[in-house]
Amino acid sequence: MSTLPLIAQFHQAGQGQVFAHFDALPPAGRERLLAEAAEIDLAEVDRLTRTLLHAGTAAADFSGLQPAPYERLPENGGSAADWAAAKAAGEAALRAGRVAAFTVAGGQGTRLGYDGPKGTFAVTPLRRKPLFQVFAEKILAAGRRYGRPLHWFIMTSHQNHAATEAFFAEHRHFGLDPARVHFFRQGRMPAVDYSGKIMLEARDAIALSPDGHGGSLRALDRSGALDLMAREGIDTLSYFQVDNPLVRGIDPAFIGWHLQRGSEMSSKMVPKAYAAEKVGHFCLQDGRLVVAEYSDLPMKMQEETDAAGHLRFIAGSIAIHILDREFIRRVARGGAGVALPFHRADKKIPTIDAAGQPVKPAKANGVKFEMFVFDALPFARNPVVIETRRADDFSPVKNAEGLDSPATCRADQLRQFARWLRANGAAIPVDATGLPAAAIEVSPLFGYDEDSFAESWARLQPKPAIADGLYLG
Ligand code: UTP
Repeated sequence: MSTLPLIAQFHQAGQGQVFAHFDALPPAGRERLLAEAAEIDLAEVDRLTRTLLHAGTAAADFSGLQPAPYERLPENGGSAADWAAAKAAGEAALRAGRVAAFTVAGGQGTRLGYDGPKGTFAVTPLRRKPLFQVFAEKILAAGRRYGRPLHWFIMTSHQNHAATEAFFAEHRHFGLDPARVHFFRQGRMPAVDYSGKIMLEARDAIALSPDGHGGSLRALDRSGALDLMAREGIDTLSYFQVDNPLVRGIDPAFIGWHLQRGSEMSSKMVPKAYAAEKVGHFCLQDGRLVVAEYSDLPMKMQEETDAAGHLRFIAGSIAIHILDREFIRRVARGGAGVALPFHRADKKIPTIDAAGQPVKPAKANGVKFEMFVFDALPFARNPVVIETRRADDFSPVKNAEGLDSPATCRADQLRQFARWLRANGAAIPVDATGLPAAAIEVSPLFGYDEDSFAESWARLQPKPAIADGLYLG
């Protein structure tokens, strides 16, 4: 496409302001701006501006919303035999090399306020391993256990892609075969101001930001990851977020539930800890599985209880999913009513004024558009939700302090290590919350879940004394 039609298209779409400083730019700046502009789907921006901006935020319709069914853990009334069968099926799939790991790591991590890709954040209590290393070692260990090294897909953003790749190279991919670690960038969306005009971040740069974790489905398709999976005989993708080191990223029972049910997308839930807990809720709407966000579901409904006094909408989403490869392709390509919707997020967006001077807004001055991966659930055939123990799967690092912070996550890791040790007969004193006084750390290469830990511990001779600073590696 020649440059003129592109600029003309922007003018025609009422977005000519993007090129307001174009004539004054040096050639490199012009090139950059044109390349960014070429990424933008003007029709999509126009549609989103009309539906999400000008139409205002229509209140979601929650009439007829029901709590979603889920597979309970055996200790909460589920069938131990069904769980055992699921686990066996998942292990068979792992031994057959059908499963790959997938981490979404394209977020901006603004709440944590850490300078660098979030996956490089030091998260473990003793060795201060970065998040990426924790996942890498879990994936390495699972590959060894099932005799098939796993592929790992990592979605980055334009902003953190190079730094992420460099980090892995510097650390020799934490022992993984580099040929099995695949990085790809997610898509970007332009921010618009409250009149729907695409914003500039600088005279030669559009205010672009990652298109949300839901953008992972398009990005998996566009990057060739799905084709690579097909070539390698992988049909099942285990999805988790970069901020949650507790996650059992390769969980045979979860994989087995998904495969045995012929599910296209499956999810883990934890019972909400309290009514106002800020997690999405698995619900049924017109017979389809949906996630209703905490900010959308009226508090009255979040507080509803059943006859036994339990929360009715109890199934909290913790952003752990399994996806079928061809389902991803179908949703990524859209068509026939199968497309992820965009959501709007009002943000403070650094921009420039008419004179090209930087503006740091004190309050929200525009809107970003993002897709969410759980919005694929209503399109999935036979979706399954299974229960998991929070302590085994979920302790995200979101905020610098307080709830879901590095401190709470470290404590949750310590509790998990202490739990595994105590379950296998080690005497380790803990407080009422299960937190040990001693600083201990278990490498995922020693044990990355209850089973693998128990096996390594049984083999370990002599058993080490539980001391402050004990590292099991
Ligand atoms: P969050 O919703 O916590 O967003 O992402 P964030 O951008 O990381 O952090 P804040 O809100 O700015 O503080 C949940 C997961 O989804 C990934 C993140 O990397 C994280 O693993 N994500 C989010 C993406 O990969 N791309 C996105 O566009 C957004």
